[in-house]
Amino acid sequence: MPKIAVLPGDGIGQEIVPEALKVLKAVTADSPVSFEYQEYWVGGTAIDKTGKALPDETLKGCKEADAILLGAVGGPKWDHLPASERPETASLLSIRKELEFYANIRPVKMSASLIDSSTLKKEVVEKVDLIVIRELTGGLYFGKKGRTEEPLSAYDVMTYSAPEIERIVRLAFQTAQQRRKKLCSVDKANVLETSRVWREITNKIAKEFPDVELTHMYVDNAAMQLVRNPAQFDVIVTENMFGDILTDLASMLGGSIGMLSSASMNGKKGMYEPAHGSAPDIAGKNLANPLATILSAALMLRLTFGLEKEAQKIETAVIKVLDQGYRTADLARSGDKVLGTREMGDAVVAALEK
Ligand code: NAI
Ligand code: MG
Repeated sequence: MPKIAVLPGDGIGQEIVPEALKVLKAVTADSPVSFEYQEYWVGGTAIDKTGKALPDETLKGCKEADAILLGAVGGPKWDHLPASERPETASLLSIRKELEFYANIRPVKMSASLIDSSTLKKEVVEKVDLIVIRELTGGLYFGKKGRTEEPLSAYDVMTYSAPEIERIVRLAFQTAQQRRKKLCSVDKANVLETSRVWREITNKIAKEFPDVELTHMYVDNAAMQLVRNPAQFDVIVTENMFGDILTDLASMLGGSIGMLSSASMNGKKGMYEPAHGSAPDIAGKNLANPLATILSAALMLRLTFGLEKEAQKIETAVIKVLDQGYRTADLARSGDKVLGTREMGDAVVAALEK
């Protein structure tokens, strides 16, 4: 039986992950597939229970599982810890590195009924349907870093090897091939040597995918274009830090950070999580929007388990619930039917097609 490691984590993670599980169990209830779910501590919750943000048992469970469903980690309670022991670095970055989840995939799509919640004009966002593929285990965040005290200075080194670039770019081409066949590679090749190598390799791999139209864009221009005319993009591929920044920007094109799902992958194996954090300001109040986590579960069914029909059932149910006017507080405007976290999970289950 395929195994799913369930890591609710901290803050609203404890509230949104159970809702995603509820939907996963409901959508697979009548299908021949069933999963073994095993829950583990991670993040601040794990520090409180075991002294470590990523207990050995959790890491082992993640390694043995076919997929990982994660809520979020971190919160003010653990902010005083040194950077290397904090939940965000000690658990999330370690899982990514240990399991070599080198590809972060974030789909951004505007739901028709959320257009009015967007901060951008209707005509700019209505046709948005894009995927950002961010390299996740290389570049500046994992490069050599250090500081000298006198005189005070610091450095972070950005390095990319050819194989690191090849695998992420190839995945991006394959993704584009299954969609509208447009790939935009984002770099800073006018300044950075890593970007020049990135571009060289991307052009080389493009020859394997003659049906995909490849363009290159500098990251500063890409930021501008994502706001000016986001509908021009199908698949975007970029290195770690550029992707970090561009995905947050792109998240707002989908209406709310509470809607944005993500997958961190290595082959078929993946860790699925909402793009947002543990939202300590609303934790424990049944206020959090569980839809990003529910949509992450749909991504899991699609990308790890190849269950396209079930994935679409979840996505369709989410659209239906929004079309019916149901909103969690983060999305609500006057006239909407405001639901709590649990009630939103129930509404999605009820909207699943039998
Ligand atoms: P955040 O994403 O947790 O919250 C930002 C704002 O968005 C808050 O006002 C929050 O209430 C709201 N929000 C986020 N998710 C929501 C949801 N599902 N429904 C409704 N509203 C939602 O980011 P913030 O405040 O910068 O970080 C809080 C903690 O989370 C920090 O400790 C941070 O390090 C951690 N974090 C963890 C991440 C992860 O586990 N992947 C990612 C980002 C932050
Ligand atoms: Mg970020």
